[in-house]
Amino acid sequence: MADPNNEKDVHQTLFGVSKALIYTCILLAVFIAIMAIGVFKADKITPQKSDSTTTVAVAKEWQAPAPSSIPAGKEGDEIRYGRELISHTAKYLGPKGSVAAISNGMNCQNCHLDGGSRLLANNYSGFIAGYPKLSNRSGHVEPASERVTECFERSLNGKAPAEDSREMKAILAYMTWVGNGVKKGQKPKGTATERLPYLNIAASPAKGKPVYVAKCQVCHGANGEGMLAADNKTYVNPPLWGKNSFNDGAGMHRISNLAGYVKNNMPFGVTYKNPQLTDEEAWNVAAYIESKPRPHKEQADDWANLDKKPIDHPFGPYKDQFSEEQHKYGPFKPILAAQSR
Ligand code: HEC
Ligand code: HEC
Repeated sequence: MADPNNEKDVHQTLFGVSKALIYTCILLAVFIAIMAIGVFKADKITPQKSDSTTTVAVAKEWQAPAPSSIPAGKEGDEIRYGRELISHTAKYLGPKGSVAAISNGMNCQNCHLDGGSRLLANNYSGFIAGYPKLSNRSGHVEPASERVTECFERSLNGKAPAEDSREMKAILAYMTWVGNGVKKGQKPKGTATERLPYLNIAASPAKGKPVYVAKCQVCHGANGEGMLAADNKTYVNPPLWGKNSFNDGAGMHRISNLAGYVKNNMPFGVTYKNPQLTDEEAWNVAAYIESKPRPHKEQADDWANLDKKPIDHPFGPYKDQFSEEQHKYGPFKPILAAQSR
């Protein structure tokens, strides 16, 4: 005969077992979720199939805030205008710009991809947090607006909007918003561009030409002139050299900056997760582009302190005896060795 108490015991035990099972399942699910997030945010981005192309590891990825999080109202309007100016600079400030004709037709976004929010594509994550800062180039402490001005004068080969203009304020408001998760002095991973390892030999314009013809020319043109849009005032594909491109005082006129940018961002559409060029191809195609003519910027007063001058700065004087040619194309290892002696 069944003892009702006994039966209750069995029920209770069964209930206890299933409760334990449920808890185990929940714990397991949480564990799996944590693992999944861990894998997703893993330090190493898995190398792609191609064995000659390596990918770079970006630890603790910075992520730009979502555009939808720009606040409503006046404050948000200023940020939105700044974003618009970075993305479509030429429309407002290019040769046929609606606000002022003060720059060359390129957009800030051409080099600061996705409005300066993409990893290893000159993003603005750490910019505001790093300013004001002692500039190695000018030798004095610069406010953020002066760094913005430098890119207008060099990369966009023109003039910057005035310090107190609606445009300059909007650009800085936007950059402040982009970097709002970054604290003073913090430098997120994936800023600027990848520092590619130096080749043992000089980068070669001659070897870069076939790379350019095969992988770049279709968009940027046989003469690096880019491709204008139907409106005839903005570019679909920006110019890489010639009178409408960045001048020889721009950051991109240093081969390491150009090669690093190209490796992880060109042909347009690739990112650091799926680069198409080998390091050597990136160095050589950069050499080809840097060998072409572009506007000249008077820059004799730059780099008052030669100790701080980057080793791939294409113009002398230098603190060593190596030629301008070698400082422009490499090989860089002998320069590095001599400088560290
Ligand atoms: C031709 C490419 C190019 C274009 C176009 C360009 N920049 Fe830059 N910019 C760079 C490079 C490369 C660097 C970093 C290298 C260096 O410091 O020399 C940089 C750095 C900056 C920085 C400093 C970022 C930091 O974290 O310190 C700011 C701010 C900036 N650019 C703003 C602008 C603005 C605003 C425009 C448009 C008016 C613009 N840039 C257009 C290439 C470009
Ligand atoms: C499918 C078209 C396309 C191809 C192919 C392409 N690019 Fe670009 N490139 C672009 C576009 C578009 C931009 C501007 C991106 C933006 O504004 O968001 C750009 C920007 C650039 C810039 C920075 C802006 C400037 O004008 O200096 C460089 C440098 C560059 N490309 C080099 C290359 C090189 C080198 C190759 C070949 C390895 C290449 N590109 C292949 C479309 C292309």
